[in-house]
Amino acid sequence: MPLLETRDLTVTFGGLNANNHINIQVERGSFVGLIGPNGAGKTTFIDALTGFVPTSTGVALFEGKDLLEMRPHKRARAGLSRTFQSLELFDDLTVEDNLLVAAHRPEWYSFLYDFVAPSRATGVDDQVAWALDVLDLTEFRTAHPSDLSHGQRKLVGVARALAAQPQLVLLDEPAAGLDTTESHVLGGRLRSFLDHDITVFLIDHDMGLVLNVCDYIYVLDFGKIIAAGTPDEIRVHPAVIQAYLGEQATELQETGAKEAHGADEANR
Ligand SMILES: Nc1ncnc2c1ncn2[C@@H]1O[C@H](COP(=O)(O)OP(=O)(O)O)[C@@H](O)[C@H]1O
Ligand SMILES: [Mg+2]
Repeated sequence: MPLLETRDLTVTFGGLNANNHINIQVERGSFVGLIGPNGAGKTTFIDALTGFVPTSTGVALFEGKDLLEMRPHKRARAGLSRTFQSLELFDDLTVEDNLLVAAHRPEWYSFLYDFVAPSRATGVDDQVAWALDVLDLTEFRTAHPSDLSHGQRKLVGVARALAAQPQLVLLDEPAAGLDTTESHVLGGRLRSFLDHDITVFLIDHDMGLVLNVCDYIYVLDFGKIIAAGTPDEIRVHPAVIQAYLGEQATELQETGAKEAHGADEANR
């Protein structure tokens, strides 16, 4: 059973189908991408999965359970975590406190744990320390978001999603505004999530990162999935080249050509 599956998931704003019968599957332990131009409906898809916008029709299953029946905080508690395109960090809190806020998943019975397992409180601190470590942010623990570069703030946003120790993390354009080197470093850190049993669903409008780090990619255009496949399949997919005609299409072909060339060299 896939960890996450949608069947004909549809979100309508006024007359517009921002998500139009979306079918995706994310296997546990995989790194799946969703790319599409601005306005394609990527953020809407994450919003629908996490309960920030209502769906009009369709099904979303998380571990086989009906996600759409659950209120947003229940989805988070079930192990679905997300980042926000607009970051939404708390500027008056330290980096560490920004993560602590997200790491707490209080339940009505949580006081019982304090009786039977008093170490649980430190468990939350451990989760935060771990998330900071995975994203190489430990040195910025006591800094405030305003002390950090844009790239570092993006990482804090990702670390915050990680601090809840989700089963699946949905990342909304974590590389936006990063330069090529920063984006490459981020890609490596994101791949390392798999070593911690965290499945990754990465959204971006830029092909570069997605083609480099994902095992499987869905391509969204005008609310519809127009292609799905491995990075090698996506690179040469006619519908994708069509949707990305222009600058990114050239980049796409160049990346493909470079790698094919690299492979030839390696085969010699
Ligand atoms: N809350 C909303 N109300 C009305 N229209 C919206 C809303 N959110 C997004 N849209 C529209 O839905 C489409 C998809 O938007 P979005 O999901 O943000 O795209 P992406 O993240 O791929 O750039 C756009 O046409 C956008 O204007
Ligand atoms: Mg978006």
